[in-house]
Amino acid sequence: MATQAEVDSFHKSAFPNANEMRKFLTKEPESWDLVWKNNLTPWEAGAAFDVQPPLKQLIESGEVPFPKNGKALVPGCGRGYDTIYLASALGWNTVIGSDVSATAVEAANEFLKSKSIPPSVVEKVKFEKSDFFQYVVPDEEKFDVIYDYTFYVAIPPSLRPAWGAKMQELVKPGGHLITLMFPHVPEPYQLGPPFWSSFENYIEVLGGSNGSGGAKGWEIVYNKIPPPETQSDVHKGKDRMVVWKRL
Ligand SMILES: C[S@@+](CC[C@H](N)C(=O)[O-])C[C@H]1O[C@@H](n2cnc3c(N)ncnc32)[C@H](O)[C@@H]1O
Repeated sequence: MATQAEVDSFHKSAFPNANEMRKFLTKEPESWDLVWKNNLTPWEAGAAFDVQPPLKQLIESGEVPFPKNGKALVPGCGRGYDTIYLASALGWNTVIGSDVSATAVEAANEFLKSKSIPPSVVEKVKFEKSDFFQYVVPDEEKFDVIYDYTFYVAIPPSLRPAWGAKMQELVKPGGHLITLMFPHVPEPYQLGPPFWSSFENYIEVLGGSNGSGGAKGWEIVYNKIPPPETQSDVHKGKDRMVVWKRL
């Protein structure tokens, strides 16, 4: 991902209509609602509203002993397929999908209705309109798990330190932050969203290095580059799944 031409070509094939989408985005997070209202959701192209294989691999492998009960959050949940998957796969008490766009929240509720999911799972899923950076919960309601896929790269990189601080605030001690990094690239580029991401950049925004390959206040408990044969062409070589345990 070295030259601008390569970045442009990757974006063109991976995120059709992304240029159209970007025209609606301003510094105001609410501008995402216009993106949704205009049906410009290029990150869904070709994915058929499906959960990414690395998330399934992580959960199904049982390599990280997630609790059997608890509360999870998916910020920037969009249409909510990951939120629904986590509620189905892990059977936690509450899985909240939050999005700053009211239209996205509507789409997520529609999607939830359209799936044949047992009512016992449906009642665990809650979609909420909220700005992640304004999200506040009392200490006793902090999250056991937060999952970020393509939210990190949707926000301007200048907001990443605030993203890291918010994660530190919202995940309870002993809880987990699951980050599916995409597009995970060797060098930063200007274009976005989706903006670039790298493992080192996550360490930086989660509080800087702890001297043993992780970030301060977090222990890395899972760190994998998914096998290419399990990935679509767009994702091959551009995903990295890292799970951080809050100390
Ligand atoms: C690239 S989309 C990804 C959606 C979803 N994670 C998926 O994979 O389908 C980013 C989402 O983040 C939402 N978003 C952007 N800024 C936000 C903020 N400050 N707080 C909450 N949601 C936000 C957008 O409305 C959009 O639905």
